[in-house]
Amino acid sequence: MSVVPYKDQQEGKKAQVANMFNNISKRYDLLNHLLSLGIDITWRKKAIKMLQKDQPKVILDIATGTGDFAIEALALNPERVIGVDISEGMLAEGKKKIKNKKLDHLIEMQLGDSEKLLFEENKFDAVIVSFGVRNFENLEKGLADMYRVLKPGGKTVIVEFSKPKKFPFKQGYNFYFKYILPKIGKLVSKDQSAYTYLPESVQAFPDGDKFLTVLEKVGFKNTKCRPLTFGISSIYIGEK
Ligand SMILES: C[S@@+](CC[C@H](N)C(=O)[O-])C[C@H]1O[C@@H](n2cnc3c(N)ncnc32)[C@H](O)[C@@H]1O
Repeated sequence: MSVVPYKDQQEGKKAQVANMFNNISKRYDLLNHLLSLGIDITWRKKAIKMLQKDQPKVILDIATGTGDFAIEALALNPERVIGVDISEGMLAEGKKKIKNKKLDHLIEMQLGDSEKLLFEENKFDAVIVSFGVRNFENLEKGLADMYRVLKPGGKTVIVEFSKPKKFPFKQGYNFYFKYILPKIGKLVSKDQSAYTYLPESVQAFPDGDKFLTVLEKVGFKNTKCRPLTFGISSIYIGEK
């Protein structure tokens, strides 16, 4: 049974996740930076650096949300970044941000589902995802479609929350994630469940080597995991 945001509702995970992000979209950026004390920004930067040698020209940012990872990817000087997401609310916030920053000639935001990407195979030089894969309804299906649209020789770079294993980070993190973060999240976002779903979905997510096994199962080679900040997050890399 997968972890869903609204346990009393009948809809599947995908519809619930889209609704949840629609509900919190206006406060999403603020809460992200507040709850992580801005560390999320450095995590995205580090992940993008993993593609520096490859110099990808056309990049797909899956689960782009309000576009922070797509914007960060511009550090690689690509010709084009396409961001897709299932939440219209998140995309609307992202489009506003990209227009204000005058980046709309470089970044295109589209409604789209990672499990059914509307692109031909072997199209992108790189496929990137930050804090998205944990929310997929069907993880394997989402990763397999990312693999399909990636060019042979191209890389995927994925950032996702993981579970710190060592004392005292494990204990400190568990306390913060379970007792403090949901209270601040609820107060600021006004959504009853979004920030309870966050720690629950991280707990249920197959992190570290388990995630690398799933990447390999759908075809990725030379997979690697690089833990960040005591293992609170990890960068995963795979090649086609
Ligand atoms: C935590 S946000 C991350 C947004 C952005 N990448 C960032 O780093 O801030 C997760 C996003 O994943 C999107 N998402 C979840 N499942 C998806 C799917 N199957 N296809 C595309 N987007 C999806 C949600 O709508 C949400 O905007």
